[in-house]
Amino acid sequence: MDAPNDKYLPARILWQHRWSPRLLSFRISREAGFRFVPGQFARLGLHQANGVPVWRAYSMASATWDDHLEFYSIIVPDGAFTSRLEQLQIGDELMMERQPFGFFTTNRFADGRDLWMLGTGTGLAPYLAILQDESTWTRFERIILVHCARNAEDLAYRAEITALRDHPLWAEHGHKLIYQPVATRDDTVAGALHARIPALLQSGELEAHLDIPLTLADSRIMICGSPNMVHDTHKALLGRGFRLSRLAAPAQIAVENAW
Ligand SMILES: Cc1cc2nc3c(=O)[nH]c(=O)nc-3n(C[C@H](O)[C@H](O)[C@H](O)COP(=O)(O)OP(=O)(O)OC[C@H]3O[C@@H](n4cnc5c(N)ncnc54)[C@H](O)[C@@H]3O)c2cc1C
Ligand SMILES: NC(=O)c1ccc[n+]([C@@H]2O[C@H](COP(=O)([O-])OP(=O)(O)OC[C@H]3O[C@@H](n4cnc5c(N)ncnc54)[C@H](OP(=O)(O)O)[C@@H]3O)[C@@H](O)[C@H]2O)c1
Repeated sequence: MDAPNDKYLPARILWQHRWSPRLLSFRISREAGFRFVPGQFARLGLHQANGVPVWRAYSMASATWDDHLEFYSIIVPDGAFTSRLEQLQIGDELMMERQPFGFFTTNRFADGRDLWMLGTGTGLAPYLAILQDESTWTRFERIILVHCARNAEDLAYRAEITALRDHPLWAEHGHKLIYQPVATRDDTVAGALHARIPALLQSGELEAHLDIPLTLADSRIMICGSPNMVHDTHKALLGRGFRLSRLAAPAQIAVENAW
């Protein structure tokens, strides 16, 4: 049997940013040998008072070449992991499994013209890594990020997303990014839409607002967020002929439940 430390590594909190009482970003030290594909997740562990560690999945939100790993987290009141996470200080330790996980990556798609990234809440996290991958900017003609949250405070990373357009590695492609905020309970966000993503798809409002149609030939669509949102969005697209993409049978849709 493997000793536990064959499976996980210690990591230290390097940086924290609190967006709101419920939303926290943090960075941890990264073992040089830990490699991942943008869109994948890590498994992070914390010791509990009862001695049994609690492990949770976390999508990487940072670039594959960064020295650190960044994560974007909900804080669930009484959540086994996050109520401990929010108490950690810079320098504190947590555990990280040695391997990354998941298939929510753009290499599962056949080539297409438009990459759509539809996310609610912390479902934004994998897109932040995908947007820091040069191949995303060169491979697609348009990159459409739709982030849906309740209010302005929950629409985190807006300035950082805008700044990504000017990154020297892909600045010549920066114009390809279209960022569409959706605030379902707040009408103060400039340029935002206000209905849930499945409703925006069903009504055609999202495509009309952006003046970009969703088509089987051109659109590659990633969906990440609450399980109900993923289900309803997937269903809305299935009804229009879009299909889940598999490595063996590339199509248009990739999904990831954020819990
Ligand atoms: C593949 C995968 C990737 C994930 N990536 C992230 C990530 O990047 N960031 C992140 O914050 N969480 C992510 N999660 C969820 C994460 O693993 C934990 O569930 C979350 O951190 C809460 O842990 P907890 O122990 O405090 O509460 P839990 O006991 O795990 O959850 C309690 C309840 O909180 C709600 N909840 C859990 N996670 C979220 C969330 N992200 N947003 C809104 N409500 C939630 C659900 O209602 C859940 O039943 C991911 C989960 C999966 C399966
Ligand atoms: N955000 C807050 O201020 C807040 C405050 C206290 C507690 N909480 C709790 O924290 C948990 C997570 O909250 P969250 O705001 O991060 O996540 P969330 O409830 O999943 O909401 C994030 C966004 O997804 C939308 N959404 C929710 N269900 C959907 C569905 N089935 N289909 C499509 N879109 C959907 C929401 O729209 P709607 O606005 O229409 O729901 C919102 O815009 C919830 O249990 C919530 O009760 C949140």
